[in-house]
Amino acid sequence: MREKTIEIKVKVFSFSELSEEKQMLIEKAKEVSFGAYAPYSQFSVGAAVLLENGEVVVGSNQENVAYPSGLCAERTAMFAANASYPRVAPKVLAIVAQTGGKFLKNPITPCGACRQVILETEKRFGKEIVILLFGEEKIYEISSVKQLLPLAFDEI
Ligand code: THU
Repeated sequence: MREKTIEIKVKVFSFSELSEEKQMLIEKAKEVSFGAYAPYSQFSVGAAVLLENGEVVVGSNQENVAYPSGLCAERTAMFAANASYPRVAPKVLAIVAQTGGKFLKNPITPCGACRQVILETEKRFGKEIVILLFGEEKIYEISSVKQLLPLAFDEI
């Protein structure tokens, strides 16, 4: 037996340290979070995907009285991007969340199912997607969802 440590890499930024393009993407995600349909959790999430052609596709969480029928903001955005631009790779994904009228202080992180869907999109286009996890106090930048999903299920 031997023990193995798997590390993940996260860059920590303040908003002003980000490029204009990344700031713009976060602003888009914030904007769209106001349109989330979250009457059950009161937790509104916004996601914005920047594609390689410069287009931005957005999504917010959409809840349902039958809880599992709802969908997270990240998957809403990613599926919309892939449906509208099936031949254009996503480049950057920004995620923000607000509750009680305030954006989270700490970076929001996507759920397991969303991580798996983002991984599939990376695989589909053969390109890594930079992920920006927004918090008012700090922003995490991750070079690929693989950092968030070590030992991911992949080939069958
Ligand atoms: N949610 C997202 O949209 N993205 C996340 O990263 C975490 C959770 C949604 C699902 C549900 O509508 C609400 O937030 C509370 O979990």
